Amino acid sequence: MNKEITASDLNPGQFIDEKVKDIMSAVGDGIAINALSGGVDSSTVTMLGHKALGERLKTVFIDNGLMREGEPEMVKDVFRKLGITAEIVDARVEFLNALRGITDPEEKREAITQAFYRDVFGRIIKESQAKHLLQGTILTDIDETVAGIKRQHNVFEQLGIDPQEAFGYQIIEPLVQLRKDGVRKVGRALGLPTGMFDRIPFPGPALAARIIGEVTQEGLDTVRKATSIVEELLGDTEAFQYMAILHEDRVTGITQGKREFGQQIEVRCWDSVDARTATPTKLSFDILNELARQIISQVPGIVSVTYNIAPKPPSTIEAV
Ligand code: XMP
Repeated sequence: MNKEITASDLNPGQFIDEKVKDIMSAVGDGIAINALSGGVDSSTVTMLGHKALGERLKTVFIDNGLMREGEPEMVKDVFRKLGITAEIVDARVEFLNALRGITDPEEKREAITQAFYRDVFGRIIKESQAKHLLQGTILTDIDETVAGIKRQHNVFEQLGIDPQEAFGYQIIEPLVQLRKDGVRKVGRALGLPTGMFDRIPFPGPALAARIIGEVTQEGLDTVRKATSIVEELLGDTEAFQYMAILHEDRVTGITQGKREFGQQIEVRCWDSVDARTATPTKLSFDILNELARQIISQVPGIVSVTYNIAPKPPSTIEAV
């Protein structure tokens, strides 16, 4: 059923027509919900869903407090210009509470999954009387989950979980035969602006996938600031994805002439086609220096900045 369609075999127009028909027949004359995060996959699904269902697709942006600087407003604005209203749902406290005290990466992912699908969507779906959730799971998410590499936040059926039983609604996944390069082609054909279909990937668990150890408000503030700097400085590279990661270990540093047992940011920047394998981008030492200079001077508490030079595998793109 999830037979891969490679980017080179993909005919975006034909794919869109087929998926629009599938969505229409699955939803019938009911309504559906979709969660827009502003990532490539969910943005593409939002366009596809609106093409199929129009006003009968209710689009929500869950503000889980784990997003990048200014993201909720930016995404809402981009889609407003495309004629699609995204309602921002404030779930910041709910997610922070769900993550409190958790340090294990898989437990963190599970906590996010439950907060998303059981608590927040469960509530929204009940209130709206929708029976379907439309989401942008892609083949790489499923592969990695099934292979036991990472439990991707949005994979259920392949783990033997029936969303209807677990959460009370059905999930429709129109992009499940594609990888990132294919999704970009479909997003472009659906009229997404370049800034959206060409955007670097951003994971469902968001900045929580970039904090090693417990996710706290302070940790989020720190990694969010560092992320803005990394995205600003590496935005002109051709890299597939780049990010800042906040480490749990502290190291001795010197701040204003005094010893500070400070925090560490790891920068990662990847060359990849479809995220299955990746190699670190050969950044110039000038760029690395500038990354360190800006992160140290603008992010309180950071005394060390490193650059990851290990490929995937054995590394993975995200740190959690
Ligand atoms: P990893 O870290 O597994 O990431 O090498 C591969 C690609 O997937 C993204 N990623 C996720 N996307 N839900 C998603 O929708 C997730 O739970 C998730 N975890 C990782 C990651 O950003 C990279 O592009």
